[in-house]
Amino acid sequence: MTAVAVVGANGFIGSRLVEQWHLGGELDVVPIVRRPSAAASAARFGLDCRVADALDEDGLSRALAGADAVVHAAAGGRQLVTRSAATLARAAARAGVAHVVYLSSMAVHGWHPPPGTDEASPLPARLPVPYGRWKADAERVLAEGCRALGLRLVVLRPGIVYGPRSAWIDRFARAVLDDEATVVEGGRGVCNAVYVDNLAFAIRQALVRTDVWDEAFLISDAAPVSWRELYEPICLALGRTWQSVRSLPARPPTRTRRERYVELRDSRWSQAALGPVPVRLRYALSQAVDGWLDGPAGAPADDAEAERPPIADLELSDLQTATYRFPVDKAHRVLGYRPAVPFEEAGRRTIAWLRFAGFPVRDDRERGT
Ligand SMILES: NC(=O)c1ccc[n+]([C@@H]2O[C@H](COP(=O)([O-])OP(=O)(O)OC[C@H]3O[C@@H](n4cnc5c(N)ncnc54)[C@H](OP(=O)(O)O)[C@@H]3O)[C@@H](O)[C@H]2O)c1
Repeated sequence: MTAVAVVGANGFIGSRLVEQWHLGGELDVVPIVRRPSAAASAARFGLDCRVADALDEDGLSRALAGADAVVHAAAGGRQLVTRSAATLARAAARAGVAHVVYLSSMAVHGWHPPPGTDEASPLPARLPVPYGRWKADAERVLAEGCRALGLRLVVLRPGIVYGPRSAWIDRFARAVLDDEATVVEGGRGVCNAVYVDNLAFAIRQALVRTDVWDEAFLISDAAPVSWRELYEPICLALGRTWQSVRSLPARPPTRTRRERYVELRDSRWSQAALGPVPVRLRYALSQAVDGWLDGPAGAPADDAEAERPPIADLELSDLQTATYRFPVDKAHRVLGYRPAVPFEEAGRRTIAWLRFAGFPVRDDRERGT
């Protein structure tokens, strides 16, 4: 049986891959987590869970020993996204792992691409949200590394992955309960959603179709849905109406001064430059910049916060005003991808999980369904 290592095995997607493949008995799973405490979920299956950081080539190559293939399902900030790609290619080659599946994202195309965009379209050099650029860089580095090292690479570009344990669902449900849920422009935008089990099937196909080399595939569910269609059943399940969700206006695709400052502050270059600066001085500098960004000197921060009109997060605004439905024909044709779980069933399973996770979900009669 093929042994498949999963990097990020305790994450939302990684943990589902481990469960499905182990319980389905189709593949031998080698879960890889970065902290010993994260091994708990795989340990309940008695699996040989290994600990390695995706940025540590030596550790990762040791953790990959004996695997035939590896799925990169780790997520993080710029450093993790851009640096783990090259590390993975080198570590896989050293461990003798021949097949690599990388979870990229539709975001590499931006959420407002020209009509007709598909896997063959050039990736935009500039995007309003940096995440898509990081993923595009990672794809490029990984493709170069795998070509040079003779490894088979398949890149999957899922849209919004939802289902039990999804952060998209968990965050929204919590906001609904706190009466703080928002969407952009009524949630009318296209959500290129994919249920996690449908994505797991696409990943399995990428592993078993060993004739597919160096290809990328867009992945989403069979039927298009809007953000409202994704989120309204959660409101109803939690005893709220869609009217309780505040609709924010879309915002222009440019970052505010504060967002530009945060990106600069968190960049590798500033972190390196600020490294030798004493902590107290760094704190004073950051307070001064915060004060300047919050408005006139002397205005209490809370007042400044209260007076600021609510503004949609740039990434959510970009996502929730999308009008383009990405095609998945290539995945159907080449990988044999068939999203078997329809949206209604995926919704039922997601709400069942919310109940299991302790959210106060009403039963069907109370919801009138
Ligand atoms: N969720 C979506 O909607 C979506 C959509 C498109 C693409 N994707 C892609 O799918 C992949 C998985 O996403 P997800 O939603 O499952 O993410 P997630 O739930 O946030 O899980 C991320 C996993 O990565 C691990 N990780 C982070 N830094 C690591 C490091 N340095 N070394 C090893 N492991 C590390 C985390 O471990 P800790 O618990 O220790 O932090 C966690 O297990 C990502 O590449 C993401 O870009 C996701």
